[in-house]
Amino acid sequence: MQQFTSVYDVADPQLLVQAALAIKKNPHAHPDLGRHKTVLLVFFNPSLRTRLSTELAARNLGCNVMTLNAAEGWQLEFTDGTVMDGSTAEHIREAAGVMSQYADIIGVRSFPGLQDRATDYADEVLRAFIAHATVPVVSLESAIRHPLQSLADWVTIEEYKRQDRPRVVLTWAPHPRTLPQAVSNSFLEWLQHAPVELVLTHPAGYELDPAFVKDTPVSHDQAAAFAGADFIYAKNWSALHPYGQRLPVATDWQVTAAKMALTNNAYFMHCLPVRRNVVVSDAVLDSPQSLVLPQARNRLFAAQAVLQQILERPVG
Ligand code: CP
Repeated sequence: MQQFTSVYDVADPQLLVQAALAIKKNPHAHPDLGRHKTVLLVFFNPSLRTRLSTELAARNLGCNVMTLNAAEGWQLEFTDGTVMDGSTAEHIREAAGVMSQYADIIGVRSFPGLQDRATDYADEVLRAFIAHATVPVVSLESAIRHPLQSLADWVTIEEYKRQDRPRVVLTWAPHPRTLPQAVSNSFLEWLQHAPVELVLTHPAGYELDPAFVKDTPVSHDQAAAFAGADFIYAKNWSALHPYGQRLPVATDWQVTAAKMALTNNAYFMHCLPVRRNVVVSDAVLDSPQSLVLPQARNRLFAAQAVLQQILERPVG
């Protein structure tokens, strides 16, 4: 693997899922693979799970790890040809070039601004690192995708599924803030490659980008979508029209025990962090069907599988 920014960077996603599950059985099988290699993790936005799981994954492979909180540093310029006489102090051309002098792999987290759809969907920060770094780039969540999360989600579904082709329902859920579409876009993109019956449910107005939805069936009736589900994956996202806004919703889309009773004793999943009793009720989140902690644990094995495949890539 030369880079990891979406499912399309992976030759065989199902094999990567199996690789992550194999790593879970023996995470310390390759303690020297990353000897004398350095993984640099650059965060323009906060993180708990991605930061800790990717740092630990790199260490399990014997890598050095450096983490840069880029939001605390000076502002980078991403536009070519700009006269830099304003607030930006360093161009990404130099910054990514310099980081490549110290690192063998660069991970980047960069959220969308949620002001302008075209700007966000151009995924400028991630694309700039890919263009100007001379080492492999791993997305730690970009403006429009969160592939490490989606890989861990698929690993979790593979681990807990009770039939060959489970019904997996991605449901919009309420949230007090405006959130990106990245986790949901990416979940659809990855699970479209998985042996599952994938269903998307959301209130009218919260349509996701057709480039990510593709032919996934969409329902505006949450109860109907939940019927017979084996996995319920809850996530909030803001609207595409008007872009980055919260819209009024007539009915309650919180995932509750009463709604989970409509399912095939489904497991509950969420990428975290989650707003209790807004996105999902305590009763569901604290139930034996909740997979949020195993799902978070699988972030480690997903990250380790990705780093391992990059470290093992043919070079030259
Ligand atoms: N799910 C997830 O990516 O969590 P963090 O934002 O804490 O990394």
